[in-house]
Amino acid sequence: MATVDPHSFTESTHPATAHIALTLYFDFPSSTIHAAALFTLQTPHSGPFFLDTRSLTIHSALHPDTATAIPFSLSTATSDPIKGTLLTLTLSNHSSFLLTFSTSPSSSALQWLLPPQTFNKTHPFVYTQCQAIHARSIFPSHDTPARRIRYSAILNIPSDLSAVMAASHVTRRPPRDDDAPALASLNLNWCSQDRVVEEFVMDQPVPPYLFAFAVGQLGNREVGPRTRVYSEEGSALLDSAAKEFEGTEEMIREGEKLFGEYDWERFDLLVLPPSFPYGGMENPKMVFLTPTVIKGDGSGAQVVAHELAHSWTGNLITNKTNEHFWLNEGFTTYAERRIVEAVQGEKRATLNVGIGWRGLNEDIERFKDNLEFTKLKNNQQGIDPDDVYSQVPYEKGFQFLLRIERQVGRSAFDEFLKKYIAKFKFQSIDTDTFLYFLKENIPGIENQIDLVLWTEGTGIPPDAYEPESGVYTSIVSLANEAANGRMPREEEVADWHGQEWELYLDNLPKSIESSQIVSLDSRHKLAESKDYEVKVSFLQRAILCGCKDYYEEVEKTLKTVGRMKYLRPLYTALVKGNEEDKVFAKRVFSESRECYHPIAQSVVESIFSKHM
Ligand code: BES
Ligand code: ZN
Repeated sequence: MATVDPHSFTESTHPATAHIALTLYFDFPSSTIHAAALFTLQTPHSGPFFLDTRSLTIHSALHPDTATAIPFSLSTATSDPIKGTLLTLTLSNHSSFLLTFSTSPSSSALQWLLPPQTFNKTHPFVYTQCQAIHARSIFPSHDTPARRIRYSAILNIPSDLSAVMAASHVTRRPPRDDDAPALASLNLNWCSQDRVVEEFVMDQPVPPYLFAFAVGQLGNREVGPRTRVYSEEGSALLDSAAKEFEGTEEMIREGEKLFGEYDWERFDLLVLPPSFPYGGMENPKMVFLTPTVIKGDGSGAQVVAHELAHSWTGNLITNKTNEHFWLNEGFTTYAERRIVEAVQGEKRATLNVGIGWRGLNEDIERFKDNLEFTKLKNNQQGIDPDDVYSQVPYEKGFQFLLRIERQVGRSAFDEFLKKYIAKFKFQSIDTDTFLYFLKENIPGIENQIDLVLWTEGTGIPPDAYEPESGVYTSIVSLANEAANGRMPREEEVADWHGQEWELYLDNLPKSIESSQIVSLDSRHKLAESKDYEVKVSFLQRAILCGCKDYYEEVEKTLKTVGRMKYLRPLYTALVKGNEEDKVFAKRVFSESRECYHPIAQSVVESIFSKHM
């Protein structure tokens, strides 16, 4: 007996799930989904059969044809804080079974928003975030990227709402009596007048972390031949989003030129409420985005380029477990920059490399007492992947691929990438599989690059590429001059976008004084910037200098956005401060906790427990 993934109970000898047919009834007043799932296994199985769950209540397990009960047990007494709760079914040559179950209001994948927490304030909203290991809190599954599934889903929702999924939409129709016989015993108002059904299918096999839906009062705008942007109906956001993302089709075409055909048919975008915990999430056919990427200057396109790039690297070729996460994010960061270079030019792409290089160095420093997580391939036994999320898989992964590109030349590397994608698409692979393929296709590469050092070593290898972007170096040296009291002149910053400011602020010397922070802000209005990257970099500096003038703005920010990229630095700066800062951080968190996604809630809690 062996598990396939340190983050899952899945047994390597148990058959994979070929298909799951889900029937989901959304009960907004109780923040609960009542559900049935018909599993079809790839081969029949006898004996214990393991599935991952977290905070689910299992009502029944039945043979789908005979309705005879299948024995099951939920090991709640031995629940694992990371993996969740093992569900064991005892099968007798079954190749399918039907489960009925309910989610909990605290399901770690789901955020239920009350009307006041939404833009229109009139309708509730719910959405998922399943990566890394949260799909198990919506439905029992082999919740490991090593196992792909196909699925169909019938969502029963209030008729004044609509649903989107990371799947193909089939129909919206009135509910029918025979839709959900398995849920009959739960006495749901399945066919009530004020309910509607939305049906979806996902015919391509996907890892469970790519399961996604959102339900709310949604509207959309067409932005390209295969792209619509969705967000809450009537919000001004829809128009600004449509504008921000008008270049999407061009990026898809560039992606196709570089990496091969776009295999997912549609590429729609969903802009979520500001509590969405990430910048973007590559849910297939329907990318999820934070509204903070819409800044009106087209810079949101970089996040779209990244999530689009996952359509090849990540969603087509997936890491087998999170220990090989760099295969997802490192390749995607590389692919993102190639797309950005093609559509926005080399200068922008090089600046991004510079910003990434800085982020990498910061995270290597952050892990100086835990060097394991400075390795591309790392050991995550007993580790929650959300706790070790960092720039390392992104930027060190990017650096490794760039190193290979520089060795073999761009055109040879482009050819290699196309071949790699064609060879492994719809598979989940590990680092060794990649290295084997690399050595096979670029003979002798192991004598030119220390592949073991790159994939298994700690820190940054000496042959990494330290960017030499002119813009990057001039901004960094300007920032360093602040130590002597020199602040940037008007004409020096005239054409700066958010990224330039972010780079400048992040590079300011530690010794900078509170008065300099204030004067910088009074000249350039950084604390009130509409660009959250700039605003948060600035506020972080203000906290680190103990500059109290900005704490009101810090509080307002922590209460309006739930993107972890902003919560992390602000809460970390506060809890590392004096007693007063800590008390402030605790109060603000207790007042905003309910507005964060459960994943963000636990990340902030772990920042508190680490530093207090
Ligand atoms: N897949 C990630 C987000 C993610 C990673 C969610 C790990 C859960 C666990 C997504 O593709 C991503 O990397 N988003 C970035 C955007 C970016 C690098 C442009 C983000 O959210 O900041
Ligand atoms: Zn990514």
